[in-house]
Amino acid sequence: MIQGKWFPQGSDLSEALSVRSAVFGRGLDELDSQAQNVVVYLDEVPAASGRLWWQDGSFWLGDIGVLEACRGKKLGDLVLRLLLFKAQSHYAREVRLCAPPETEGFFSRLGFREARAAEQAVEMFLPGDEIELDSCKSCRKAGCPNRKES
Ligand SMILES: CC(C)(COP(=O)(O)OP(=O)(O)OC[C@H]1O[C@@H](n2cnc3c(N)ncnc32)[C@H](O)[C@@H]1OP(=O)(O)O)[C@@H](O)C(=O)NCCC(=O)NCCS
Repeated sequence: MIQGKWFPQGSDLSEALSVRSAVFGRGLDELDSQAQNVVVYLDEVPAASGRLWWQDGSFWLGDIGVLEACRGKKLGDLVLRLLLFKAQSHYAREVRLCAPPETEGFFSRLGFREARAAEQAVEMFLPGDEIELDSCKSCRKAGCPNRKES
């Protein structure tokens, strides 16, 4: 079973940090006092996490990571969508992130565009009014009963 859980500022972040340290080799930092963390569990085990914070007029997403053994099961996609849903529910004008260049395609699937690129990281943005969480819209699965052909 897959479940998601939010950890607001001041929460016990041990489960979010177990994923963060396994994926990024980093633990608690100053940003956690301002950020909301989200954890996705696979059969009750923390498998993926990410965080969201407000800075300089934008919402920022970061540290979206999935344990290596759990990749390719759409858990990263779920973390990203949960973070975007939270930003949208706060009427985000814009969502930004910095990510390794090799993950640019993961974010551009949901509409993120490049703001600037450097060797180590690419900064991307998504206007709040372009957040689109309906995964059916971009899915071309043939014969899907969810699709209403017009
Ligand atoms: C990037 C990462 C979060 C993806 O998580 P994941 O759970 O393996 O990805 P998902 O299974 O949710 O993939 C969803 C979709 O994105 C695609 N995708 C996944 N990783 C991708 C990548 N690096 N580039 C382009 N597309 C990617 C998948 O093919 C899938 O496409 P589909 O819907 O057409 O089938 C994961 O690989 C990871 O933790 N990487 C290391 C940490 C990192 O670099 N984080 C990113 C920025 S902070």
